[in-house]
Amino acid sequence: MKIDGKTQILGIFGDPVAHSLSPLMQNAALCELAVDAVYVPFHVRPVDLAGAVNALRALRIRGVNVTVPHKEAVLPLLDEVDPAARLIGAVNTIVNRDGRLVGYNTDGLGLLAALRDDLQFGPRGKRVLLLGAGGACRAALAALAGAGAVELRLANRNPARAEALAAGFASHFEGTTFAAFPLDDGAPPVSAVAEVDLIVNTTSVGLKGEELALPWAAIPERARVYDMVYRREGTPLCLRARENGHQAADGLGMLAGQGEAAFRLWTGLEPPFGLMKRRLLAEVSDQ
Ligand code: ATR
Repeated sequence: MKIDGKTQILGIFGDPVAHSLSPLMQNAALCELAVDAVYVPFHVRPVDLAGAVNALRALRIRGVNVTVPHKEAVLPLLDEVDPAARLIGAVNTIVNRDGRLVGYNTDGLGLLAALRDDLQFGPRGKRVLLLGAGGACRAALAALAGAGAVELRLANRNPARAEALAAGFASHFEGTTFAAFPLDDGAPPVSAVAEVDLIVNTTSVGLKGEELALPWAAIPERARVYDMVYRREGTPLCLRARENGHQAADGLGMLAGQGEAAFRLWTGLEPPFGLMKRRLLAEVSDQ
């Protein structure tokens, strides 16, 4: 790697940030395309977020990803927020356009790319059940509704959160029906999975090996399962879905997909096809 006076800086703000796989996959793509830029981790504590955002201007940093716990808190610190990111209420990518900081959310694009590449799934005209009602779910809702899903169902432990989300999004997407369901004994009711084409886990359940309860016998055979969680040994949800004959994929594709979309925003270039995902897979299989 050659760093000289013209090298541009990209990076990621997070707390913690040391575990992030983004530097590996972003630098792999920058290197492959010989872009004169480096991508570095910045450990930014909440109390320092405003200073760190100002430093993007002062240091003319080209752009950064934003991760936990800053995705929501960063919005008021930016000069402009893309309408989709505004609707989601979270920014994961900042682009520095000559001192103007513009916020985007590429998580939903990452999900759509993963659904397409890993599950050969396109949302147009489809019914989807989403488990959860947090920030990850909001990004998924905006992407799926924007891509023409006909019905989006939300099931969440705290049902009021799912209801509020369904009502909030319904007013933005006229072609999509939104519905909210509670969990009974941890599982969505049978009515939530009827005629469903895709089930997406947007919660962190599974990260530590916990299993998400689903009424498997009532889920149509054609339904695919996408788990935003990733575990090297496979997530309990993916393993169970495959056991029940469903096509399933884990969160690595979405992580690569959101990174590819951010890379396009910063560089205007198309990242080498599949490179970021291959770099992630190589890393996690080494651990
Ligand atoms: P994120 O921004 O990553 O989506 P979040 O806003 O904290 O994170 O949302 C986490 C989601 O996972 C929520 O929908 C949460 O359910 P509640 O709204 O009822 O809290 C869900 N979640 C977390 N742990 C869970 C568990 N053990 N069982 C079921 N749902 C869980």
